[in-house]
Amino acid sequence: MSAEPHDHAPVLASRRTLEDLVRNKKVLVMTGPGGVGKTSSAAALAVGAALMGIRTCVVTIDPAKRLADALGIENIGNEPVQIDAFGSGDLYAVMLDADATFDDLVVKYAKSPEQASKILANRVYQNLTKNLSGIQEYMAMEKLYELHNDSRFDLMVVDTPPSSNALDFLDAPRRLIGFLDNKVFRLIMNPGPAILRPVSFAARAVLRTISKVVGSEVVDEAVAFFQDFEGMEEGFRMRAESVQALMRNDATAFIVVTAPRGDTVKEAASFGEKLAGFGFQVAGLISNRHTPDFDTGTRNEELPTVLSSRELEVLEQNLTRMEQLRISESKEVDWIVGLLAPARLVKVPMLAKDISNIEDLAKMARSLI
Ligand SMILES: Nc1ncnc2c1ncn2[C@@H]1O[C@H](COP(=O)(O)OP(=O)(O)OP(=O)(O)O)[C@@H](O)[C@H]1O
Ligand SMILES: [Mg+2]
Repeated sequence: MSAEPHDHAPVLASRRTLEDLVRNKKVLVMTGPGGVGKTSSAAALAVGAALMGIRTCVVTIDPAKRLADALGIENIGNEPVQIDAFGSGDLYAVMLDADATFDDLVVKYAKSPEQASKILANRVYQNLTKNLSGIQEYMAMEKLYELHNDSRFDLMVVDTPPSSNALDFLDAPRRLIGFLDNKVFRLIMNPGPAILRPVSFAARAVLRTISKVVGSEVVDEAVAFFQDFEGMEEGFRMRAESVQALMRNDATAFIVVTAPRGDTVKEAASFGEKLAGFGFQVAGLISNRHTPDFDTGTRNEELPTVLSSRELEVLEQNLTRMEQLRISESKEVDWIVGLLAPARLVKVPMLAKDISNIEDLAKMARSLI
């Protein structure tokens, strides 16, 4: 945490509700610690926006099966499909396919169809999306970039992947470019025509050592991959810069999602600060799964007639405990507001069950907007 929390105060001058954001921003990115409800919040916010008549596309990443079912996207590919949200034609959803998104990029930046096919067939390339950390994150941003100018949508709501380190996606473009620019392979491959490129004596020694460790087949394919990729890094680099620029654009805002638990709030807070420090606009805070307010102030007069006095006592105790929990959860999370001002905090109650249909999403949306 910085000594002066407002050093990197986000661009917005006044506190804005999530309704403000869905009306006025073009891109909203849900971020935050693992398992707090980023995917659900993204889907719910998109449903809420669509119900307001805002043409919205939500990009979700690896959603729980029930949520994918709720959105009707379980078996769809990498393209947005229209979702029936209470008869509104304004909701689209896409489930990110990181492999297919990367393939599209390769085809886009390859100098020829042959170059693209060679890369796509290379096993080192095929394993990249599984093994190169941050690639999912990058592809989510990439998909967003691809779709943000789509005239079908006024608003994109983007989920970020489950990740042990929520900042991975910020670093992903740099990591990808760094990998494609791989210095070791640049050393191994001499400049010259790609097809008959001789491998220098010194490089052979390096290759022999690597082969011993990872197997010569892998090295051959890796060399082939980097040779085939040659000339495309620049396209990728420029694209990554455009994606970064979109993330910093005034029409893009980040929403930090957290749960009202000490450690999770701390993680979310430090994440929000870092985002702001990187020049991203943190404009919203969602604290999800709060103990609901059971309105302990009012009493149902009929209860004493249907419950025994012992049952009533237990009910009272439970309600008191819930109320204490609700107050302590609020205390856990409220301090984050001062830190990430002017982002406004929205508290979402825990629903009675897991989110499994569009009605559940609409219910969550009513707490958000
Ligand atoms: N307000 C809520 N009430 C009840 N259940 C909720 C609520 N919000 C989320 N859930 C449930 O919590 C689980 C986790 O939510 P979700 O998948 O949206 O989290 P996430 O932050 O996207 O997780 P990950 O980091 O793994 O991607 C899901 O089963 C979802 O249905
Ligand atoms: Mg998720």
